[in-house]
Amino acid sequence: MLVRIKRGWEMPERLATPESVNADRRRLVQAMALAPLLAAAGPLLRPARAAAEEADPSRLLYPVKRNDAFALDRPLTDEQLVTTYNNFYEFGSHKRISQIAQRLPIRPWTVRIDGMVEQEREIGVDDLLKAMSLEERLYRHRCVEAWSMAVPWSGFPLKALVEFAQPSAGAKYLKMTSFQDEDVAPGQKAVWYPWPYVEGLTIEEATNELAFIGTGLYGKPMPKQNGAPLRLVTPWKYGFKSVKSVVAFTFTDEMPKTFWWEIAPDEYGFWANVNPKVDHPRWSQASERPLGSDERVPTLPFNGYEAQVAHLYKGLEASEGDRLYR
Ligand code: MTE
Repeated sequence: MLVRIKRGWEMPERLATPESVNADRRRLVQAMALAPLLAAAGPLLRPARAAAEEADPSRLLYPVKRNDAFALDRPLTDEQLVTTYNNFYEFGSHKRISQIAQRLPIRPWTVRIDGMVEQEREIGVDDLLKAMSLEERLYRHRCVEAWSMAVPWSGFPLKALVEFAQPSAGAKYLKMTSFQDEDVAPGQKAVWYPWPYVEGLTIEEATNELAFIGTGLYGKPMPKQNGAPLRLVTPWKYGFKSVKSVVAFTFTDEMPKTFWWEIAPDEYGFWANVNPKVDHPRWSQASERPLGSDERVPTLPFNGYEAQVAHLYKGLEASEGDRLYR
């Protein structure tokens, strides 16, 4: 069901000062009578001002140089589709969350780096962006729901963040945690979900050349609905691994219990590598529907990135079996 949700800054029409208010004295008096109403509308107007002040300071960094080593064999998906057909359960369990996600304040945004590291620290996202070298990569994205897209992400290799964090030798996993604020994200009022959204990778996965932190999309800063100000991008895994709006990177020696794994362990797990031969318990994973098309195309092992990542799982097949692909 499509629900039209009024944004905080949308002032009801009845509270707006009429354009012709100065035309005659009688109207001016009417306007004065409106004053208390306008004062009462202050809190409604404030978010609009906040939004203007918040204008993403990283916008001048984009577009960034494309790294041609990460090219595609298919056309890019239409930007409009990518930014209006989203999964972001914090804002609703349907796809049309792009409007309500604008509520998410993305400045100031502090990232915590903690757990098994040389020194735990906090860093503002703009300082982090300054410390990283940004580039654009064209990647496929395959959702576990069997739709897919092809998009130009801007961002930096996750490996650079791991090096920046200086994990201790015993760290085996990187856990990434999304924001938590049920005042801006109504979905987080649903107590049956284990908020905040958490995802994780092994250190070997996190330092693989494909693992990427997305900070922008289509040559612009990351839209809020796509996970601003920074999100994970792991194109060989199902899309639910790519946790949005990350506030913490935690190094640990324990496999993190991830969001969907905790909710439905029979359907989703930690690894979530794309595999057309291992079906979801409720549907086939053999093919996918590219957004914007009605046709289905075959799904590729590791979503087409087998050469770059298959070695990460050698030897694990025996112990993990199909769990590597859920
Ligand atoms: N991250 C958070 N915090 N919350 C979510 O609900 N959904 C995941 C992933 N990251 C999700 C999330 C799923 S299921 C997918 S397919 C992708 O985000 C969708 O990313 P997109 O909206 O940019 O296409």
